[in-house]
Amino acid sequence: MPDVKIEKLIKRFGDVIAVAGIDITIPEGKIVTLLGPSGCGKTTTLRCVAGFEHADEGRIWIGDHIIFDSTEKISLSPQKRDMGMVFQSYAVWPHMTVYENIAFPLKIRKMSRGEVDQRVERAMNMVGIQALKNRLPSAVSGGQQQRVAFARAIVYDPTVLLLDEPLSNLDAKLRERMRFEILELQRKLGITTIYVTHDQEEAMVLSDEVMVMDNGLVIQSGNPEEIYFNPSNEFVADFIGKINFLVGTVHTLDEGMSVVNIQEEGLQGSMYTTRTDFPAGRRVLASVRPENIQIHTSKPDKEVNTWPARLERKNFLGGLFDMIVRVEDKELRCRTPFVVEADTGATVYIHIQPKDVLLIGMN
Ligand SMILES: Nc1ncnc2c1ncn2[C@@H]1O[C@H](COP(=O)(O)OP(=O)(O)OP(=O)(O)O)[C@@H](O)[C@H]1O
Ligand SMILES: [Mg+2]
Repeated sequence: MPDVKIEKLIKRFGDVIAVAGIDITIPEGKIVTLLGPSGCGKTTTLRCVAGFEHADEGRIWIGDHIIFDSTEKISLSPQKRDMGMVFQSYAVWPHMTVYENIAFPLKIRKMSRGEVDQRVERAMNMVGIQALKNRLPSAVSGGQQQRVAFARAIVYDPTVLLLDEPLSNLDAKLRERMRFEILELQRKLGITTIYVTHDQEEAMVLSDEVMVMDNGLVIQSGNPEEIYFNPSNEFVADFIGKINFLVGTVHTLDEGMSVVNIQEEGLQGSMYTTRTDFPAGRRVLASVRPENIQIHTSKPDKEVNTWPARLERKNFLGGLFDMIVRVEDKELRCRTPFVVEADTGATVYIHIQPKDVLLIGMN
């Protein structure tokens, strides 16, 4: 299976720049997600790759083949690009049976009846919908429609699979199960896959590589752990998971340790961190994930990063407690799976391990 290379891709709709210069490579056989908020240009990027949208600038390769080049005026038709696509809304045809839906891409490729039959059977088998063969889409469930769309996308053995929020119409439980099914299928087919989603958990579970998008650009890419533990800017840190930000200045640099002078309106003090990627004097956001704020009911025996706090709110989410604590006049979000023996209004102590304080540079 080939890789897909997208070079300096730009797509405008009038004054709107939907894709603002995307430069990425999707390695062969891997699954890469484009993750970002609504309107950031995910679907447009995917449609440009599929050939349903004509980019204004840029080049797209599948392996060594150029399928789009704005300067050379090359633009292969969607059918010639050899890609399978599942659209944001499935777009299964309501007037065709499940079988006819899946057979359609083969018919427009003028395959023989025997071959069509054999391939449709195989695709239906792969996603487990043989029994629905003669039904209309209106007579199958949302999850089954999703499988029909999937079967239709893989039926002609495309070399690249494009999936645009394929699970967004499903309920939470089914969505979770389908993630694993998609991943299993992707691995089985070994097919280079671009997966579009605005759901960060989905992106984490599915991706070899996550590409975080904002305003038509990929602003950070990396494997799920890199993106979560080393976000390169405020947007990524905030978009992936939850996080507390504290504005401050890097004060001193010791061996393996930095100190950030916190300069929040409601909170002053020193925050120690093992991150040493910024020099003294640099304005940073000391950033702490809610699950990394420990809550103690008595003063812990720790030298640094310990503050008394007031427990402002405590919600049990089943499996974990979600809390707001107030340190001086600054509210922080905390989460823990452990029972916290304190009621709202109580004084508690928070502690943050220096290794859990991420630093993000401010301009
Ligand atoms: N055909 C179009 N005409 C005009 N503007 C468009 C068109 N398609 C998309 N846009 C605009 O381009 C931008 C990117 O849209 P796109 O559909 O790519 O976003 P998205 O990241 O897929 O969002 P969502 O998560 O809501 O699906 C948006 O501002 C959108 O309004
Ligand atoms: Mg979209």
